Amino acid sequence: MHHAPPASLCRLAMPLAAMVITVASGCDRPAESSAPSPQVDRRPANIDPSTLPIPTEPALAAGYDVWINNCVICHTEGTDGAPRITDTKAWQPRHDKGRAEMYASAITGFDDMPPRGDSPDLTDDQLKSAVDYMLFATFGVLE
Ligand code: HEC
Repeated sequence: MHHAPPASLCRLAMPLAAMVITVASGCDRPAESSAPSPQVDRRPANIDPSTLPIPTEPALAAGYDVWINNCVICHTEGTDGAPRITDTKAWQPRHDKGRAEMYASAITGFDDMPPRGDSPDLTDDQLKSAVDYMLFATFGVLE
């Protein structure tokens, strides 16, 4: 048979529980000082799309339009580990696989990269132009 604790104990326990919750939730806030702490998010900062180059060359300009309308969110915020545009460290090993592989990943998907970047209406050529733009903005050259 269950015995309820005496009321006096409950009166003591309730404020204590509230304090524990207050302290614990305070720990979730990002550290205000710049001192290193295991809680600091060390992922690269999100990319501000307004800082990206807008090409004049027609094919790349078309790629920019596709990219800014369909790929921008994941590839500026790093959603699900998406390589951020302009993050050469994240892009180099992918770029090394070759342009054809990049196109194939954009078209058919790759791990957490959804097929066609979740924009099923885009043509293969549009997807390729968006890939070209992303690599241009990251590496500055198209070879
Ligand atoms: C819903 C989020 C999301 C959207 C939208 C998205 N991507 Fe991605 N993309 C990812 C993720 C996540 C990865 C990394 C996949 C991995 O390596 O596991 C990725 C990786 C890639 C890669 C590298 C693939 C490889 O083989 O290494 C290319 C190229 C790419 N995306 C192109 C695009 C293009 C072009 C668009 C817009 C048409 C787009 N993505 C839209 C999430 C997204």
